[in-house]
Amino acid sequence: MSTLPSSDAVVELREVGVTYPSGHRALVGVNLSLHRGEFVFLVGPSGAGKSTLVSLLVRDVSPSSGEVHVAGHAVHTLPASKVHLLRRRVGVVFQNFRLLPRRTVWENTAFALEVTGAAREEIDAAVERALRVVGLAELGGRYPAELSGGEQQRAAIARAIVGDPELLIADEPTGNLDPLISWEIMELLIQINRTGVTVIVATHDSNIVTTLRRRVVGLDGGRVIRDEEHATYHRVG
Ligand SMILES: Nc1ncnc2c1ncn2[C@@H]1O[C@H](COP(=O)(O)OP(=O)(O)OP(=O)(O)O)[C@@H](O)[C@H]1O
Ligand SMILES: [Mg+2]
Repeated sequence: MSTLPSSDAVVELREVGVTYPSGHRALVGVNLSLHRGEFVFLVGPSGAGKSTLVSLLVRDVSPSSGEVHVAGHAVHTLPASKVHLLRRRVGVVFQNFRLLPRRTVWENTAFALEVTGAAREEIDAAVERALRVVGLAELGGRYPAELSGGEQQRAAIARAIVGDPELLIADEPTGNLDPLISWEIMELLIQINRTGVTVIVATHDSNIVTTLRRRVVGLDGGRVIRDEEHATYHRVG
């Protein structure tokens, strides 16, 4: 029997395991609770399971064991026909942007809402708002290839927030960006978090994590090896 998570939990994982078809155990016995409005860094060496955890939260991968509750949905038992309802509540910025190359910034941002069947005026207003939040109001007509790396990242964030999600997940949002642009992207994510959106950032950027002193969840070999408030990138002591 599965009990419901506490009402203000946006993410609740209980003893979650993910084993890929290759037999690789990418997550093992993961327990994690995130409350509404939290800002959390997910850290760990390459291969630790960060992107797998991100994929799990939007059911890009299914858990092999345990319970996954996200934004009011029991993801581990969610029928395929209802996965779109989950994805409407969760915005994801993927490790490699995944912008559609033949669509403009505006079209890339609108696409996420068009598939939900929203009305044209509603879509236009939401796209305009999202592009304004990320500072791309003037660049909606550009194609991804006509943008800098930082601008592409902003476009990916616009697409992730256009549906007004409860949870925003960014996987390595500063991976290929210079330090100044990286800080601008982080400030944008913090600003979005201040509007009440729960934010998870998977990152290797030790400077950013250590400077911001937020909650840090550390993965290694698919296990949560630390979960600390006001923490630095490397565990102290
Ligand atoms: N589709 C897949 N099939 C099999 N194994 C996979 C698959 N995706 C990831 N893995 C493996 O699972 C482990 C966790 O991968 P994951 O991508 O979650 O790590 P990560 O922490 O995001 O690493 P990085 O910091 O390099 O992005 C790795 O050992 C990886 O090789
Ligand atoms: Mg990754």
